[in-house]
Amino acid sequence: MIKKIGIITSGGDSPGMNACIRAVVRTALYNNIEVIGFLKGYEGIIDNNFIELKRESVSGIIQKGGTILKTARSARFMTKEGVQQAANNLKASNIDGLVIIGGDGSFKGAIELSKHIHIPIVGCAGTIDNDLVGTDFTIGYDTAINTVIEAVDKIRDTAESHDRVFVVEVMGRDAGLIALRSAIACGAEALLVPELNYDTTSLILKMKSWRSTKSSKIIIVAEGDQSGGAYKVAEIIKQNCPEFDIRVSVLGHIQRGGNPSCMERVNASIVGYNAVKALMTGHKNEMIGIVNKHVTYTPFEKAVKHIQKLNKDLEELIEVLSS
Ligand code: F6P
Repeated sequence: MIKKIGIITSGGDSPGMNACIRAVVRTALYNNIEVIGFLKGYEGIIDNNFIELKRESVSGIIQKGGTILKTARSARFMTKEGVQQAANNLKASNIDGLVIIGGDGSFKGAIELSKHIHIPIVGCAGTIDNDLVGTDFTIGYDTAINTVIEAVDKIRDTAESHDRVFVVEVMGRDAGLIALRSAIACGAEALLVPELNYDTTSLILKMKSWRSTKSSKIIIVAEGDQSGGAYKVAEIIKQNCPEFDIRVSVLGHIQRGGNPSCMERVNASIVGYNAVKALMTGHKNEMIGIVNKHVTYTPFEKAVKHIQKLNKDLEELIEVLSS
């Protein structure tokens, strides 16, 4: 019988986390379950820093980026002592379940925590990177790629006017999914992502064959690509193709902010609602996801495996459409 649950947001924030918190809180209260929110992710559990969450606590937040619970990448939680302290505090708080909204680092933390406590833990995939196995879209991804395309569309305007090549770096430490989707949506001429073997040598070859009739060129580079980032790529292009006028734009943390898109708010609400339902029906150590419009439950160990491959058809699509 679940009477009281805890909730945290952890790791990098992402638009839609607030919509998910709201769904968790409202679903729990509807089912007569109390909710406490630990502040700053695992840090809040270690410090026993929490607030009681009522209906009004989550009013007016569905449209807001960031997270009202704050978040952190907790260095203390990486230590044995930190995990033990967190486990002790959770036991003392009398909660019957914990909801973690976060990405792969947060779920790896959940796996450690679950070795020390017996209360069920469930996860809601919250990261702009979309790099978790077991869900089509993580909370934050859709808004982030829309932020990217809005920025790149603007870059395209000035690139056209000056006949320039722009190397645009987007987020994604280990994954190129933001880069891939935004490259398609912006009609980018080239893409560099960690998952593909396409490197700067292939890029230079491609650039040598570019039609001179097309004035602007956009090259999207994922932050985690082996090439070393947008500035390095621009340097290599300058050395090998001096005929191009090159500029660099690193989009950075604007990708993590902003009002969540409609899709984000809806998905985050579905996932948050189902996280509470999952706790009520005995699920534990699983991430709630949405695959082909169906709610799915993926063990944390599998969710963090990073086996999500880039869709080869989409890779070819970029090649064909930018030719
Ligand atoms: O995990 C999401 C993410 O936005 C990555 O794409 C990026 O590499 C990282 O977070 C940046 O993290 P921080 O804000 O801690 O520097």
